[in-house]
This record gives sequence, structure tokens and C-alpha cells, in this order.
Amino acid sequence: MKKLIELIDLPVFGDERGSLIALESHKNIPFEIKRTYCIFDTKEGVSRGFHAHKNLNQIAVCLIGKCRMVLDDGMQREEVWLDAPTKGVHIGKLIWREMHDFTEDCVLMVLADQHYDPEDYIKDYTEFLECANHVPTIENN
Ligand code: TYD
Repeated sequence: MKKLIELIDLPVFGDERGSLIALESHKNIPFEIKRTYCIFDTKEGVSRGFHAHKNLNQIAVCLIGKCRMVLDDGMQREEVWLDAPTKGVHIGKLIWREMHDFTEDCVLMVLADQHYDPEDYIKDYTEFLECANHVPTIENN
């Protein structure tokens, strides 16, 4: 079964002055970046997300602090701590995402391959399961 959590390792260009990370469309980011947004100042005990997208690819990178990202494709659920600016996680189409346990200082940056479109959201988990078409596939190995 395909792994849900696909991590992207973002190399650091470091020297005696400090560190730098570069994100480039079709290079270390596997799509054309059309939108970037940041989630920060998340209040204690608050979780976010709880939706999927019909047609959107995203990469989430925690620049400061950390949070726990849960991904669900309707068949399986996996989670990863986003706790370093060198660690990106790919969130593909029809993936239910939840973000939990934000530290007070957390700055979560998200890169997206589409402009913001409220019509693209699936906010109901039952509807998500229907859309995710979780007919079992036969693996070839
Ligand atoms: P929302 O998608 O609910 O955030 P989360 O996925 O963290 O739960 O977005 C919160 C608000 O921000 C909502 O009013 C829509 C707005 N928004 C934009 O205007 N542009 C964007 O690119 C995003 C992601 C959200």
C-alpha cells in the first residue's frame, strides 16, 4: 500500500552567517506554486484543517515551532510531526488533513498549486469518504 506521508527533504545552505532554505517550483517543490499561506498564532488546544480538497496539491513546512499533521486517504491514517524547516510534507488531492498540537510559536507555511477556491473544499468527513472512492485496489507485488 502506498505510504500516505511523503516527506520532502529541503536542504539547508548554511555558512558562518546562518542558514537558508530555497523552495523552487518543479525543483524541490513538485508543482507550480500559485499560492503560499501561513498559519501562526494558533491558540492553545486548537486543531485546524478537518477537510480535504478535490483538486489541490500542497506542501506544508513548519518554519518555527512544531505541530502534528494527520493525513487520511479514507483507508488509512498516518501522522507526522512537522518540527523543522527542512521537512516538507506533501498533501495531495482527496486527502483529509488535520493539524493538532501547535506550539505557541508555530509558523506553518503551506505552498499550493491552485489559487484559493472555497468550492474546492470537502468539509464533511462522510462526504470525503464517498469522494475518496475507497474501493480496494489489488497491489501488483
Ligand atoms: P481554512 O481553510 O478554514 O483554514 P484551516 O485549513 O487551517 O482550517 O481558512 C481559514 C480562513 O482563511 C477562511 O476564512 C478562508 C481564508 N483563506 C483564504 O482567504 N485564503 C487561503 O488561501 C486560505 C488557505 C484560507
